[in-house]
Amino acid sequence: MSIRLAPSILSADFAHLADEVAEVERGGAELLHLDIMDGHFVPNLTFGPPVVRAIASQSKIALDAHLMVTDPDNLIDDLIAAPVARIAVHVEVCSHLQRILESIRTGGVEAGIAINPASAISLLEDALPWTDFVLIMSVNPGFGGQDFIPETLEKISRLRQMAAGRSLDIAVDGGVCLENVASLADAGATTLIAGSAIFGLEDRASAISGLRQAATFGGER
Ligand code: DX5
Ligand code: ZN
Repeated sequence: MSIRLAPSILSADFAHLADEVAEVERGGAELLHLDIMDGHFVPNLTFGPPVVRAIASQSKIALDAHLMVTDPDNLIDDLIAAPVARIAVHVEVCSHLQRILESIRTGGVEAGIAINPASAISLLEDALPWTDFVLIMSVNPGFGGQDFIPETLEKISRLRQMAAGRSLDIAVDGGVCLENVASLADAGATTLIAGSAIFGLEDRASAISGLRQAATFGGER
């Protein structure tokens, strides 16, 4: 599976969002990662469907919504309509995971499960038939610019083994940078989400190509 890069706009300049999106678009990003936070599931608060709709109207890149909220059910229909291409809900808050994954897919959107660093990957096993991608958190969600938690690498490998025979996309989110993308690709990650490693640099396009090059080299080893 080839590697896809998903810049997270959490680290972008919100006062010039349309320009930021255009820049990563020109840089060849495959997905645009949108961190939706409610101030409850995570301490931080970001934006909701109206801003996602505005981004959708400007962006040629497919939108990847990461819901860090306690009640994801309330947002699914509005996000499908925005439209976004993918929605990830956190396993820690979904009592009826199968139902919400199916409702995402029914809307024609890829369904994903996000999982915190200390949550057991075994929680996902029985949900894989309804899952297009898993978003492995490699930091505790809520903020950009945190350090990558190294135990994540082993977790990715275990998930790749668990999903053997399925075309599961494994996305990694948090502290992704030039130093770890090769190991992440080696472990089985196929989508790399990066905020500060892309928007923290003046030249977003070369940040994207640098990450892609480093990750592809890792994937070939
Ligand atoms: C963290 C968010 C991430 C964040 C990543 O809660 O889910 O998407 O933007 O930022 P970096 O790449 O700076 O760790
Ligand atoms: Zn995220």
